[in-house]
Amino acid sequence: MAKKRIGILTSGGDCAGLNAAIRAVVHRANLLDWETIGIIDGTAGLLEDKPEYRVLTPNEFDGNIMRMGGTILGTTNKGNPFAFPMPDGTTKNLSGKIVDGFKALNVDAVIGIGGDGSFAILKKLAEQGKINMVGIPKTIDNDIGMTETSIGFDTAVAVATEALDRLQPTAASHDRVMVLEVMGRDAGHIALSAGISGGADVILIPEVKYSIENIAKKIKQVKESGRNFALVVVSEAVKTVKGDKLELMYTGGEKRYGGIGHYLVQKIAEETGSETRVTVLGHVQRGSQPTYNDRLLASAFGVKAVDLIKEGKFGRMVAWSNRQVIDVAIEDAIAAYQEVDLNGTLVQTARALGISLGD
Ligand code: F6P
Repeated sequence: MAKKRIGILTSGGDCAGLNAAIRAVVHRANLLDWETIGIIDGTAGLLEDKPEYRVLTPNEFDGNIMRMGGTILGTTNKGNPFAFPMPDGTTKNLSGKIVDGFKALNVDAVIGIGGDGSFAILKKLAEQGKINMVGIPKTIDNDIGMTETSIGFDTAVAVATEALDRLQPTAASHDRVMVLEVMGRDAGHIALSAGISGGADVILIPEVKYSIENIAKKIKQVKESGRNFALVVVSEAVKTVKGDKLELMYTGGEKRYGGIGHYLVQKIAEETGSETRVTVLGHVQRGSQPTYNDRLLASAFGVKAVDLIKEGKFGRMVAWSNRQVIDVAIEDAIAAYQEVDLNGTLVQTARALGISLGD
């Protein structure tokens, strides 16, 4: 029987732990005597006339690669192949070219490491090209359904918590209110987890409607209790009090959330009379060495993904549930978008600790 060959790609925004997942796949596949090839830059690598890939050998995957942030394969979070932006401003369906690229690789199955956006695209491509696909969930936003957590989230929360640890002494030295804007896209998971862990007084997430008066009330309470500083964490997708979405436009017309921290810092200063400063954490949350939790999760996910291929189970996503790795249908995971559960333990914990959610 011919030796099995599997492909792996990373898709969407990078995060810490991707290399640990790639490493786990390569090692597990090697133990089964399979070859693993890495597709460069996600599906973009398949748009080239000669699909871009390289053979991944266990030798290059010593422990060091696991310690590195980012993805050694490269990735992209733009250019949906079903509506690919062309230089003249129009869009074109290039899915056929990508499917041809997959076929040219001559692989038995592909492991896609991505978020819900990437999975929606990969699933469509897999159906169109009859490609055997397995998904590994990654996103600092932790908004993929059917899994308790995704690769990259733990590291992002650790970075945001450390930022609060670092903001606290400077806030206390200057009698200031510090506002920390964190990522998370439309879900407030990073803000909520880091806010509780980092001792925030106010946590603002897109799932909860706030008022400046309520934020100010909490800050005044803090001051009246004798403390001279306050920490506020805000998730990037929180809107203005009028309900406006704040975004930044980057070169090429790409829009991303940005600006709510700067907006709030002024409003809080006006309402409380406190000196305020803002820190926008940005992509720092995606970089750095993965935490041990992300390395463990990535390792377990990588092994399980290869084992699913061995069992011939395709169209599945590996998931973390109740202390172990399971697998779920990719379409179920995409459909079950996971925002913050307002009745969940973390929201209840925040409230029980006296943290204001601004409502
Ligand atoms: O989805 C991950 C994420 O980091 C979001 O939290 C953030 O809104 C977005 O990607 C930033 O995208 P980009 O890397 O394109 O600026």
